[in-house]
Amino acid sequence: MTHDNTIRRRLGSVVVPLLILVASSQGTAAQDIGDVEAGRRLAETWCSNCHVVSPGQQRGTSNGAPTFTAIAAMKSTTLLALRAFLQTPHDRMPDLHMSRNEIDDVATYILSLRR
Ligand code: HEC
Repeated sequence: MTHDNTIRRRLGSVVVPLLILVASSQGTAAQDIGDVEAGRRLAETWCSNCHVVSPGQQRGTSNGAPTFTAIAAMKSTTLLALRAFLQTPHDRMPDLHMSRNEIDDVATYILSLRR
Protein backbone atom coordinates (compact mmCIF):
# COMPACT_ATOMS: atom_id res chain seq x y z
CA MET A 1 0.00 0.00 0.00
CA THR A 2 2.78 2.42 -0.79
CA HIS A 3 0.42 4.39 -3.01
CA ASP A 4 -1.98 5.05 -0.12
CA ASN A 5 0.85 6.23 2.05
CA THR A 6 2.02 8.70 -0.54
CA ILE A 7 -1.43 10.23 -0.78
CA ARG A 8 -1.71 10.42 2.96
CA ARG A 9 1.69 12.07 3.22
CA ARG A 10 0.76 14.59 0.52
CA LEU A 11 -2.55 15.34 2.19
CA GLY A 12 -0.81 15.76 5.51
CA SER A 13 1.54 18.34 4.14
CA VAL A 14 -1.42 20.45 3.00
CA VAL A 15 -3.93 19.87 5.78
CA VAL A 16 -1.65 20.38 8.75
CA PRO A 17 -0.42 23.86 7.75
CA LEU A 18 -4.02 24.79 6.94
CA LEU A 19 -5.18 23.74 10.40
CA ILE A 20 -2.40 25.77 11.98
CA LEU A 21 -3.41 28.77 9.92
CA VAL A 22 -7.07 28.48 10.97
CA ALA A 23 -6.18 27.99 14.61
CA SER A 24 -3.85 30.97 14.73
CA SER A 25 -6.20 33.32 12.89
CA GLN A 26 -8.95 32.55 15.40
CA GLY A 27 -6.51 33.14 18.22
CA THR A 28 -5.99 36.75 17.26
CA ALA A 29 -9.41 37.83 18.61
CA ALA A 30 -10.03 38.09 22.32
CA GLN A 31 -8.50 34.72 23.10
CA ASP A 32 -5.08 36.31 23.39
CA ILE A 33 -6.21 38.77 26.04
CA GLY A 34 -7.89 36.74 28.75
CA ASP A 35 -8.25 33.14 29.89
CA VAL A 36 -11.50 31.55 28.71
CA GLU A 37 -11.49 28.84 31.38
CA ALA A 38 -10.83 31.26 34.23
CA GLY A 39 -13.51 33.53 32.80
CA ARG A 40 -16.02 30.71 32.73
CA ARG A 41 -15.36 29.91 36.39
CA LEU A 42 -15.67 33.59 37.32
CA ALA A 43 -18.92 33.87 35.39
CA GLU A 44 -20.37 30.82 37.12
CA THR A 45 -19.40 32.25 40.50
CA TRP A 46 -20.23 35.92 40.07
CA CYS A 47 -22.74 36.23 37.26
CA SER A 48 -24.89 33.10 37.19
CA ASN A 49 -27.28 34.31 39.88
CA CYS A 50 -28.71 36.72 37.35
CA HIS A 51 -27.41 35.66 33.94
CA VAL A 52 -27.58 32.36 32.14
CA VAL A 53 -23.82 32.26 31.64
CA SER A 54 -23.34 29.13 29.54
CA PRO A 55 -25.37 27.39 26.85
CA GLY A 56 -25.55 24.33 29.13
CA GLN A 57 -26.77 26.11 32.27
CA GLN A 58 -29.99 24.44 33.38
CA ARG A 59 -31.33 26.93 35.87
CA GLY A 60 -32.78 29.96 34.10
CA THR A 61 -33.20 33.40 35.59
CA SER A 62 -36.22 35.64 35.25
CA ASN A 63 -34.88 39.07 36.18
CA GLY A 64 -34.43 40.39 32.67
CA ALA A 65 -30.67 39.96 32.55
CA PRO A 66 -29.65 38.81 29.07
CA THR A 67 -27.99 35.43 28.65
CA PHE A 68 -24.27 35.51 27.92
CA THR A 69 -24.92 33.78 24.62
CA ALA A 70 -27.28 36.61 23.69
CA ILE A 71 -24.74 39.22 24.82
CA ALA A 72 -22.06 37.50 22.72
CA ALA A 73 -24.36 37.53 19.68
CA MET A 74 -24.80 41.32 19.76
CA LYS A 75 -22.73 43.22 17.21
CA SER A 76 -21.96 45.88 19.79
CA THR A 77 -20.28 43.36 22.09
CA THR A 78 -16.52 43.80 21.83
CA LEU A 79 -13.71 43.38 24.29
CA LEU A 80 -13.56 47.14 24.76
CA ALA A 81 -17.32 47.46 25.26
CA LEU A 82 -17.35 44.66 27.83
CA ARG A 83 -14.40 46.17 29.66
CA ALA A 84 -16.10 49.55 29.78
CA PHE A 85 -19.38 48.03 30.91
CA LEU A 86 -17.82 45.96 33.67
CA GLN A 87 -15.66 48.83 34.94
CA THR A 88 -18.59 51.16 35.50
CA PRO A 89 -21.54 50.82 37.91
CA HIS A 90 -25.00 50.08 36.52
CA ASP A 91 -28.52 50.56 37.83
CA ARG A 92 -29.68 47.01 37.81
CA MET A 93 -26.37 45.26 38.08
CA PRO A 94 -24.17 45.34 41.19
CA ASP A 95 -20.66 46.76 41.00
CA LEU A 96 -18.65 43.56 41.28
CA HIS A 97 -15.28 45.24 41.82
CA MET A 98 -13.44 42.89 39.53
CA SER A 99 -9.75 43.32 38.80
CA ARG A 100 -8.59 44.21 35.32
CA ASN A 101 -7.50 40.60 34.80
CA GLU A 102 -10.81 39.21 35.97
CA ILE A 103 -12.67 41.57 33.66
CA ASP A 104 -10.52 40.48 30.72
CA ASP A 105 -11.07 36.80 31.54
CA VAL A 106 -14.84 37.18 31.80
CA ALA A 107 -14.99 39.33 28.67
CA THR A 108 -12.91 36.77 26.77
CA TYR A 109 -15.20 34.02 27.99
CA ILE A 110 -18.33 35.91 26.86
CA LEU A 111 -16.80 36.53 23.42
CA SER A 112 -15.91 32.83 23.17
CA LEU A 113 -19.66 32.08 23.18
CA ARG A 114 -20.08 33.92 19.89
CA ARG A 115 -20.68 31.67 16.92
C1 HEC B 1 -27.65 41.03 40.52
C2 HEC B 1 -27.82 40.54 39.17
C3 HEC B 1 -26.65 40.57 38.21
C4 HEC B 1 -25.39 40.06 38.38
C5 HEC B 1 -24.81 39.35 39.61
C6 HEC B 1 -24.69 40.30 37.14
N1 HEC B 1 -25.51 40.95 36.25
FE1 HEC B 1 -25.01 41.54 34.34
N2 HEC B 1 -26.83 42.40 34.12
C7 HEC B 1 -27.87 42.30 35.04
C8 HEC B 1 -29.03 42.95 34.49
C9 HEC B 1 -30.40 43.05 35.17
C10 HEC B 1 -28.65 43.44 33.23
C11 HEC B 1 -29.49 44.22 32.25
C12 HEC B 1 -29.22 45.67 32.53
C13 HEC B 1 -30.10 46.56 31.79
O1 HEC B 1 -30.60 46.19 30.72
O2 HEC B 1 -30.32 47.66 32.31
C14 HEC B 1 -27.26 43.07 33.04
C15 HEC B 1 -26.52 43.38 31.90
C16 HEC B 1 -25.25 42.92 31.65
C17 HEC B 1 -24.49 43.20 30.45
C18 HEC B 1 -24.89 44.15 29.35
C19 HEC B 1 -25.65 43.51 28.25
C20 HEC B 1 -25.98 44.61 27.27
O3 HEC B 1 -27.16 44.77 26.99
O4 HEC B 1 -25.07 45.30 26.80
C21 HEC B 1 -23.31 42.56 30.57
C22 HEC B 1 -22.15 42.54 29.58
C23 HEC B 1 -23.32 41.87 31.83
N3 HEC B 1 -24.51 42.12 32.47
C24 HEC B 1 -22.28 41.11 32.31
C25 HEC B 1 -22.23 40.59 33.60
C26 HEC B 1 -21.09 39.87 34.12
C27 HEC B 1 -19.81 39.57 33.34
C28 HEC B 1 -21.40 39.54 35.39
C29 HEC B 1 -20.53 38.77 36.39
C30 HEC B 1 -19.18 39.23 36.55
C31 HEC B 1 -22.73 40.04 35.68
N4 HEC B 1 -23.19 40.66 34.56
C32 HEC B 1 -23.38 39.90 36.90
C33 HEC B 1 -27.83 41.70 36.28
C34 HEC B 1 -26.72 41.12 36.87
